[in-house]
Parts: sequence; structure tokens; C-alpha cells
Amino acid sequence: MMRKSVLNRRTWRHAAISAVGSAQVKLLLLCCIVFVLLALAGRTTTFIGWKNGSDALYESSFPKKGYALLINTWKRNDLLKKSISHYASCPGLQSIRIVWSEPDPPSDSIVEYLNRVVQLHSKDGREIELKFDINKEDSLNNRFKEIKDLQTDVVFSIDDDIIFPCSSVELAFSVWRSAPDTMVGFVPRVHWVDKSKGDQGKFIYGGWWSVWWTGTYSMVLSKAALFHKKYLNLYTYEMPASIREYVTKNRNCEDIAMSFLVANASGAPPIWVKGKIFEIGSTGISSLGGHSEKRTECVNRFVAEFGRMPLVSTTVKAVDSRNNWFW
Ligand SMILES: *[C@@H]1O[C@H](CO)[C@@H](O)[C@H](O)[C@H]1NC(C)=O
Repeated sequence: MMRKSVLNRRTWRHAAISAVGSAQVKLLLLCCIVFVLLALAGRTTTFIGWKNGSDALYESSFPKKGYALLINTWKRNDLLKKSISHYASCPGLQSIRIVWSEPDPPSDSIVEYLNRVVQLHSKDGREIELKFDINKEDSLNNRFKEIKDLQTDVVFSIDDDIIFPCSSVELAFSVWRSAPDTMVGFVPRVHWVDKSKGDQGKFIYGGWWSVWWTGTYSMVLSKAALFHKKYLNLYTYEMPASIREYVTKNRNCEDIAMSFLVANASGAPPIWVKGKIFEIGSTGISSLGGHSEKRTECVNRFVAEFGRMPLVSTTVKAVDSRNNWFW
């Protein structure tokens, strides 16, 4: 009697487990079928050339005029070689302007090397221009000097120690073309009202973590951003000289000044574009953190100079819809 009931209980439990098991298996199977169907759909579209076709369409829709790489470098020839070798392979690149502020002019060997790189990628009717813009004084304002003979309307301003894949740059370029008066970039930053100072109209500069936490930004840094070349002119000749002097003296905040300038002129927020960043320099970490008090000082200083806070906040982020797996 005793033995039988134990046995019954055991078979009952076994049945229950197998019932649960079969429901799970069914669910799993369903998932597998859906997954296989999706994968097949993806493959077929690639196979019949739809995907390749749309890439070709995408590339041929580039305007005749591309963008100019405006690269800021200082005594790091190895990084300069690496970045230029990479960007020269991007299809929309038309011109490379190197902002040179070292006491010595570029050596023959680096000029020769870069010329060879550019020649290698200048084919099929495309010719990439390469020029050094040599500056006598070493100032952070050099990177925004007016360039009189610039072939393109837009510059992609970049530091020599970060690299973005061509696909990211060209996405940013197409975003810029739909909003040519604003700054379009990969490194967002934010400002907000300093409530601890009451109604004094003081602001705080927020770094990457603030953007990550709130999803809000009001600047994109010029170490990786596209903007119209007219802003180089405005920065050099129209912006109050006191701001440029402040930037030179403190060796900081030229990027914040540019963000203020563009926001003041356009009345619009910048646009943050999703892109993969590869840091090739060794100073990556220090450039990401710290120094936020100095940056806060710059923001408040520039607000005083502009007579108002021109920056506009936003939460929009541009992504390449082809890389979004699910819609
Ligand atoms: C800000 O924009 C206004 C209106 O366009 C302009 O008059 C002013 O000069 C600009 N301020 C600065 C500092 O560029």
C-alpha cells in the first residue's frame, strides 16, 4: 500500500514535468522557426542584390562635393599617419587639411608618406586634396582658422587620436546635409542650470555620464564633428576676441566656444550621431574625464560674453536604420 502511493506520486510528478517540458519545447521551436524565417528573409534580400543595390544607391546619392577632413595634430606623426591612411579610404572624403602648429614645419618624410597615401586612394576620377595649414603660434584657436581655398562646404573636424569607421562618418555627413546650419557630431555634452546658485543664471558643464544618465545633450565636441565652413569665418572674425584670448590663455574650451557660436547663429540644437569610436592615442582616458570645473568656468564665462545662454538641449540621436536589427 505504502509503496504503491510513492510510486503513484512519482509518476504523477514525472508527467507534470514532461507537460511543462513540452510547452517549453514548443515555445522554443516556435522561436527557432521565427528566427530561421527572419534569417532567411535577411539572406534572400542580400542574395537577390537588394542590399548591395541599396548600398550602391546610397553611395551614388553623395553629392559631387564631399567633406573636408580638418585634422588637428601636435607632435604625433605616427597617429597622423594612421588617421589619414584610414580616412583617405572613405568615399565622401574630398580634402584633407592638417592644422599644423608645431615650431618646425612638417618633415619631408611625413609629407611624402601622406602624399603617397592620398594618391593610393585618388582613383576613379576622385582626387583627394592634401594640404598643411601651417601656423606660427601654438593656439587652440588655430583649428578654427578660416580656410580661404577650401573646396567643400563642410568640414569634419577631428582630433588625431580618434578614428571612426567610414560608415559612421558618412552617416554623419548625410545627417549634416539635412541640417547644414547645425553641428553634427559623435561626442555629446550637456549643460544645465546650477540650482545651488539660485537665480544667478549660473550653469554646470556635464560630461559623458550626465549625457548617459539623462539622455540629454546640448553640445557636440569639435574633436569629432561636422559643421559648415562659414563658422570658421565667424569664429575667427566675428566672435568677440576676448573669447579667443580666453581659449589661448587657458588652453581649453575652444570646442565649447564653437558650440556656443553655432547655437547662437542657428538657434538650433546640435545633432548626435551614433558611431563607433576607436581611440588610437594613449591619452584616451584623461581626455574622457576630470577637468569638469574648468569646463564649467568656460561655460559661465562664455554666457557672460554672449549675453545669454545660446545652447539648446535635445534628446534626438541619429542612427543608421540599416544597422538597427529590429525596426
Ligand atoms: C549671436 O547672434 C546674434 C544674432 O544673430 C548676433 O547679432 C550676435 O553677434 C551673436 N553673438 C556672438 C557673440 O556671436
